[in-house]
Amino acid sequence: MSAKKITVVGAGHVGATCSQLLSQKELAKEVILVDIAEGIPQGKGLDQWESAPIEGFDSRVYGANDYEQCVGSEIFIVTAGIARKPGMSRDDLLKTNAHVIRSVSEEIKRVAPESIVIIVTNPLDVMAQVALETTGFPRERVIGMAGVLDTARYRSFIALELDVSIEDIQALVLGGHGDTMVPLASYTSVSGIPLTQLMAQDRIDALVDRTRKGGGEIVAYLKTGSAYYAPAAAAVQMAEAIVKDKRRILPCAAWLQGEYGMSGLFLGVPCLLGANGLERIVEVQLDDAEQAALKTSAEHVTSTVQALKAIEAAG
Ligand code: APR
Repeated sequence: MSAKKITVVGAGHVGATCSQLLSQKELAKEVILVDIAEGIPQGKGLDQWESAPIEGFDSRVYGANDYEQCVGSEIFIVTAGIARKPGMSRDDLLKTNAHVIRSVSEEIKRVAPESIVIIVTNPLDVMAQVALETTGFPRERVIGMAGVLDTARYRSFIALELDVSIEDIQALVLGGHGDTMVPLASYTSVSGIPLTQLMAQDRIDALVDRTRKGGGEIVAYLKTGSAYYAPAAAAVQMAEAIVKDKRRILPCAAWLQGEYGMSGLFLGVPCLLGANGLERIVEVQLDDAEQAALKTSAEHVTSTVQALKAIEAAG
């Protein structure tokens, strides 16, 4: 099973890695990489296509500076935006990326009004809201990538610590991306064995803390940019679940309408992903501490949305 067309917007580190994974996994007949930078998407797209004879895939990869070739694209993975540069405030970043996501969303709506949009650009819970509002798409078709990445980081650290296969580790992380994420210890297991039976609580706490700061750990190494291999793999896993109608339950940022007692914001929750995008939000039981942590995470997302609205109102 594969899509006819998947478009990746933003041909930077995350976007180019997405298109490479999409084509190598043959998730679409055509993978289109779109960026405003002239020559970059064309060059990276051609380079990737030239790896096809070696890797043995038949997905055609194209690069473009406009959206004409994206007409009818089934899925858009949106990674366009800027990273924070020295001297730039978070508010500046928020405003600039919201502007980018708005203009990209207008194009998506124009060329592919039935498409499913996966938002990767940060701060993603807020950018997903901008995309939802601008496209006017139902919430089933605008989903944010965060939980899959946070969970992957958590699982990778557990595998290292226990020296066991990554395949056997199941975990669930809710809430906003990064600092305010809410790992659910009671839903973390290794081949069905609760993690608490295999690891002391202080070690679990240490791994949770490392996961929360996982993005920052990579930035500290790279210095000039942020993570891209794992974020791209996470976005592509979501696309795969949709394209293949796998009905996987993955933690994603979804627009809440009463689930977990909240409405009118994007927050990381377990989502059933299938052919229609977000098929269902799965509500799991939370203890009081987890419920409180989720609420704190939601407040953080809401305050960032309010900050954006205030900045935009001020011009
Ligand atoms: N339309 C299309 N592409 C754009 C636009 C736009 N309006 N504005 C910027 N871009 C492109 C840039 O030209 C650049 O090639 O987005 C790309 C971003 O790439 P990088 O700077 O390499 O950033 P990257 O590391 O890929 O991260 C992208 O994903 O994980 C998040 O926090 C990360 O928000 C960031 C995003």
